[in-house]
Amino acid sequence: MSSRRQNSRFLRALRPAFLGTVPLIFWAFWQGRVHSHETLTTTVLFDREIVRILNSHCVMCHFQNGPSFPLETYDQTWVRARKIRAEVIARHMPPWSAFPGYGRFANDNSLTLRETQFVVSWVEGSGPRNAGRAFTNIADPSAPRPKEIRAEADFDRWHLGEPDLTRQLPANTIEAQSGDSIQRSTIDLGLSSGRFLRGFEYRPAERSAVRAAFFTIQETGQWVGSWTPWYGYTSLSKAAAWRLPAGSHLVAEIHYRGAKERVLERGTVGLFFAKESTADAVSDLVLEAKSAAPVATEKQKFRATTRLAGDIYALALRPEVFPGAESLEVSARKPDGTTKVMLFAKNLQPDWPTPYIFKTPILLSKGTELSVVAYYSKTESTAQSTGVRLTISSVPARGRL
Ligand code: HEC
Repeated sequence: MSSRRQNSRFLRALRPAFLGTVPLIFWAFWQGRVHSHETLTTTVLFDREIVRILNSHCVMCHFQNGPSFPLETYDQTWVRARKIRAEVIARHMPPWSAFPGYGRFANDNSLTLRETQFVVSWVEGSGPRNAGRAFTNIADPSAPRPKEIRAEADFDRWHLGEPDLTRQLPANTIEAQSGDSIQRSTIDLGLSSGRFLRGFEYRPAERSAVRAAFFTIQETGQWVGSWTPWYGYTSLSKAAAWRLPAGSHLVAEIHYRGAKERVLERGTVGLFFAKESTADAVSDLVLEAKSAAPVATEKQKFRATTRLAGDIYALALRPEVFPGAESLEVSARKPDGTTKVMLFAKNLQPDWPTPYIFKTPILLSKGTELSVVAYYSKTESTAQSTGVRLTISSVPARGRL
């Protein structure tokens, strides 16, 4: 006790000179690698739980020459352990702004509570690698080293199978370290007759520079596909399809941020057609509230509503907001007066735009009032317009989905 008091007096005496850095240095040393005489305080292992989490939530961005540092091997992960713990607890990483509990989404890349607990426990338990098979302990040096367990991204395949039609997009040049930019291009899909589209996938050529991509059909204005690093396709149930008129053009809107090096980016789209034309055609509902001149001094609220003229199944939401948006809520007020929150997103990360694709379609009956509300902080003073636009993909509800 007295030695601790002495110790703290010692630190207090040092503080004016070192501005409190001494305890931090002790802390950093103390957090060093697990030595053989230390007791492990966690059962979570890199080779088991952590690799699985990295594989399903992180390596699509954290790979060698990707948009951020790699988190593929034990060493790469171990040296960032403290930062990983902080980012995961703060829900900054992986990027996903929807609040858990409101709506369930097929493209949700957030960690479950259990996964978060694994990460925290692993970091706080000094990050053990495996259950005692430390590589340095191999008795026979000529024996083959055990295969290193590492996280691996899975980029080299179409996730929906072989597409019925592929098209390469025009190339975009993205300068090294350039800021956020959106490039649009339009291609002729070469359809001599109308088709029904049941799935859409995009494969960028240079993942280091691509943040997101959105695809619409020029002739119908419909949003048919999107890509984020963690979810690169849209796929419909058998009962629904997008109608593509003959001669359709695809409009690609690709969000870039300059990588370490200049890249020539030329991605490929894959289209999957429905066999029969019995599927219901997807239609888009658009809610929009915008202002050309943002008031930079006050918190601003934007709200748009619409009343449904028939029963529908909502398939996905695509919100578009501008920098400075703080929160976003999409809700449905049913004819019986009850309200269902379909999406509630906070601390929006404008550099990671994403749609929200429902895990199971949401049935909304005729007379329901759908609304979208976006709040902007008062601190952001952008010269561009502000507001919110929401696209809802839906099909008529006939109890078939
Ligand atoms: C969609 C891509 C993406 C995913 C998925 C992702 N990250 Fe990141 N992460 C980034 C990028 C890009 C950065 C660099 C900073 C930035 O631009 O936001 C970053 C930064 C970080 C940082 C450093 C933050 C700082 O302030 O220094 C940590 C730690 C991190 N990520 C951990 C993780 C972990 C752990 C996961 C998975 C559980 C994960 N990330 C998933 C893209 C991603």
